[in-house]
Amino acid sequence: MAHVQSEMCEMQLNGVPELMDLLHIDVEIDVVDGKPGREDAPCSKNVLRKQRNWERQLASKKSKRKEEKQRRKLNREQESGSSTDQPQFSKRVMKAITKERLVEAQSTGLKLCVDLSMTDCMSDKEISRLAGQLRRLYGSNKKAAQPFHLFLTDLREDSRLYRECIRMNAGFLNYMMDITEESCLDLFPPESVVYLTPDAEEALETIEADRVYVLGGLVDESIQKKLSFSRARELSVRTARLPIDEYMMKKNNAKNFHSKILAVNQVFDILLTFCVTGSWTDAFQMWFPPGKGYVVTPCDSPTLSATLTLHED
Ligand SMILES: C[S@@+](CC[C@H](N)C(=O)[O-])C[C@H]1O[C@@H](n2cnc3c(N)ncnc32)[C@H](O)[C@@H]1O
Repeated sequence: MAHVQSEMCEMQLNGVPELMDLLHIDVEIDVVDGKPGREDAPCSKNVLRKQRNWERQLASKKSKRKEEKQRRKLNREQESGSSTDQPQFSKRVMKAITKERLVEAQSTGLKLCVDLSMTDCMSDKEISRLAGQLRRLYGSNKKAAQPFHLFLTDLREDSRLYRECIRMNAGFLNYMMDITEESCLDLFPPESVVYLTPDAEEALETIEADRVYVLGGLVDESIQKKLSFSRARELSVRTARLPIDEYMMKKNNAKNFHSKILAVNQVFDILLTFCVTGSWTDAFQMWFPPGKGYVVTPCDSPTLSATLTLHED
């Protein structure tokens, strides 16, 4: 019996928990190094429950990511005026158009830096997530009708992030962006720089051609509060936050969760759409992640009307 139990336990750990549920067997097995006999052994009820929870979380993360991908695709189709009223180009032609737009952006486009000077304080997991976000950011820029001139600044060739970007992002070294070890202030005069940070007092009103916008290359796993704000202070440059308070309101949710901190690629998508539409409402409607506990304030809401009147003044 112990042998059978031990085998079943191994099956569970190999990812077949549903089988146990089906058999309705309450497993209380103690296995140490494959041998039964100890009470606090790893294959206890607790371990199995934890494993099931972990699998559930994994599946839910997977489906959320899939939904997010579909949402992004739909948004992009809407933004480009939907596929029905646009001429359909072959893949080859589209590739050429994309390249031409990116080349053009490198001489006349709006400038945006991702400041990668703060990666030393990040875990390996955060570094991997940041590499993925940079890939998505670049992917959005490639698909944009008016791409930005992008700079990855303070990216040292001997850094973990550089290695991870090469490992995870196919063709990274051929991305049409400026990848440099220099900082944004080595490239641009401080008075032209606007550092975007959720902790700024000033709300970003518009995007101007003679400014350089900077995003902090950070992920918020181990939530390092105000890091990008402190960095901007250190550089003595202007700071601005996305105008979330001005155009959005809190939405009730079961966890009472509300966050205005977005990932770099999510902020970038919002900026790209704002550049095309000139509307924060449209940009937030399209890209503000639904799980953050905010919705766009309806146009007839007093808060938004007051804000808009103030802006007009
Ligand atoms: C995940 S956030 C980092 C948050 C981090 N706790 C910090 O110190 O800012 C990554 C970057 O996205 C940009 N960002 C995120 N949410 C923003 C917001 N609401 N307004 C302006 N920028 C934002 C900032 O440039 C920020 O550094």
